Amino acid sequence: MAESLTFTNHSSRASIYEELFPQLEALLAGETDPVANLANAAAALREAFGFLWVGFYLVKGNELVLGPFQGPIACSRIGFGHGVCGTSWQRQETMIVPNVDEFPGHIACSSSSRSEIVVPIFGSDGSVIGVMDIDSDRLDDFSENDASNLETICNMLVRSSGL
Ligand code: SME
Repeated sequence: MAESLTFTNHSSRASIYEELFPQLEALLAGETDPVANLANAAAALREAFGFLWVGFYLVKGNELVLGPFQGPIACSRIGFGHGVCGTSWQRQETMIVPNVDEFPGHIACSSSSRSEIVVPIFGSDGSVIGVMDIDSDRLDDFSENDASNLETICNMLVRSSGL
């Protein structure tokens, strides 16, 4: 396994995703444990883009429970339909929040968070088994391009980890 990620082209976020994908594939290859793979994916995304917080919440009963993450400490449990994460789970769709202060019910784990993206993770049976949550300390930091790339990464995680 490589000791660190390598990026030669920082000209755009799209080019960083392009270089990240094969490195992430290699990192996940040969490991099937979901905690190990979610933890490495969180670390890789934070290293690649310098986001404030990158992590996962996993569905347990009628709540999302904090899983592997990188960044400041965060709330442990989020109810179905609550906050951005619980809303993404309920709607079964990726949520881009350009300004967290304008999202009714946003759960503020860090006062530095300004914008957020949450991607539902669909398990092999088609149900939502968790969400990927990324927070930025910059307003309006996430685009549809992030959404599609992060959805690809979530699918990669499901395939590699048998989620
Ligand atoms: N802001 C999220 C809660 C999780 S933290 O951002 C890590 C939400 O509103 O669901």
